[in-house]
Amino acid sequence: MKYNDYLWWHKGVIYQVYPRSYKDSDQDGVGDLRGIIEKLDYLKELGVDAVWVSPIYPSPMADFGYDVSDYTGIHPLFGNMGDFDDLLKEVHEREMKLILDLVPNHSSNEHPWFRESRSSKDNPKRDWYIWKDPAPDGGPPNNWLSVFGGPGWEYDEATGQYYYHAFLKEQPDLNWRNPEVQKAMLDVMRFWLEKGVDGFRVDVMWHMVKDDQFRDDPPNPDYNDKMNSYSRKIPAFSTDQDEVHDIVHKMRRVIDDYDERLLIGEIYLPISKLVRYYGEDNRGAHLPFNFQLLQLPWDAAKIEAAISEYEGALPEHGWPNWVLGNHDNSRIASRVGKEQARVAAMLLLSLRGTPTIYYGDELGMEDVEIPKEKIQDPQALNEPGVGRSRDPERTPMQWDDSKNAGFTTGEPWLPLMENYRELNVEKQWSKEGSMLQLHRKLLELRAKEPALHIGKYNPVPSNGNLLAYLREYEQEKFLIVLNLGASEEIFEPEFQWQGTVKIATHTELEGEKLNQKITIAANQGLLIKLD
Ligand code: NOJ
Ligand code: MG
Repeated sequence: MKYNDYLWWHKGVIYQVYPRSYKDSDQDGVGDLRGIIEKLDYLKELGVDAVWVSPIYPSPMADFGYDVSDYTGIHPLFGNMGDFDDLLKEVHEREMKLILDLVPNHSSNEHPWFRESRSSKDNPKRDWYIWKDPAPDGGPPNNWLSVFGGPGWEYDEATGQYYYHAFLKEQPDLNWRNPEVQKAMLDVMRFWLEKGVDGFRVDVMWHMVKDDQFRDDPPNPDYNDKMNSYSRKIPAFSTDQDEVHDIVHKMRRVIDDYDERLLIGEIYLPISKLVRYYGEDNRGAHLPFNFQLLQLPWDAAKIEAAISEYEGALPEHGWPNWVLGNHDNSRIASRVGKEQARVAAMLLLSLRGTPTIYYGDELGMEDVEIPKEKIQDPQALNEPGVGRSRDPERTPMQWDDSKNAGFTTGEPWLPLMENYRELNVEKQWSKEGSMLQLHRKLLELRAKEPALHIGKYNPVPSNGNLLAYLREYEQEKFLIVLNLGASEEIFEPEFQWQGTVKIATHTELEGEKLNQKITIAANQGLLIKLD
């Protein structure tokens, strides 16, 4: 591909905003659209290119917006359509892109479609959801489970059938085998695309189609009782069915009717299955989210092997992407520690492929322990003890050292991290050596250097807990050396090299000229421009 054939989403960096927690403009304790607008200058200066906002649609909030009751509206908690239009305009004025979260697998049980569907067995929308007769013993039709605990089937007294819900019973799954459902949801996509939205992150893409024979999922031989109840089975028949690829392709065709729009899929699958979502001839999702950095042990050899496996599995012209954090997983600074989080940031922003940054990770925010009585997440409340709470990674963004870190003057919907008086955007912005400054530098250099945003990736075999690779474009070469461990390592590759440190996790090394054999301190990362 020629340089000019690369589009904004190949070259750019995505930033995820969890809208409830970003910035509250009306002081009700919950972030909102006007709040995001207030912070667009920050995002622009930080150096990200696209903002993905988690769901902002009308919703009873059983799953904090992932239970949508109107796909083409705005929840009053977040603002109104006028606010949304302003947000889109303001994002575009800053030459950034706006990506919405699309939740097509399930709606809210309060969506008018579901209300109709459940009203009677012969309602025209009955088949829009997944209804089945009870098993002969009166129990659920098969053994499919809910990700959030318990059976995936809910009995409906009024009509004597069960409906399927992969998540909460308040989130009934739509029947994507029904052409009317397909048309309705593709029209939803068009509605937002017509407004000028730049793309979608599609929620649980791999769940969208289920086995048409409703066969039982097999037991998981690796299950133990410390795991959540969903792990009892392998979702072989309830997820990732071949037919899902036809649906993804249909979504892509809608996207392709517009200019340079982006289709991202949320997919938690092993690499071999994940890459199928690029579609035949790359006519599926542009970016099936690659969650390996969320899941792998923090070990250089394992991560290097995974990068190579992924690079090797990508279809021709399939573009890679990397995710370090999101609203469903423990924050990187808590998973690998504050020191390693800096190395992780350098990894994310120097790998080949579109990076997605989770809000607050650029500051080094950590998981916040939430007192029992303040837990909000249904995943935790449904299965106390085994269902992991996602609240700790969803706490308010830390803007300054005023009350509630400048997030709200009201009562924040989740408590803040205690350290916010120090760890906030205002204090860290120009502080030498801060995590925020590291992000700013990495983003700036990545945007400037083709080798970093589209260049080739070549691993450099190295010792111990070192992860090293080259990024190359035409004559430009960067060498990245990351120490993923807490002890010193020696780096001495087989080829001859010399260069200048452009960015270092420990800033005193920046500008140094290095060559051949170097010592890499614990938790250190170097981004070196080769001569
Ligand atoms: C994935 C979303 O990221 C998560 O937050 C949500 O609970 C489930 N899908 C259900 O929509
Ligand atoms: Mg608010």
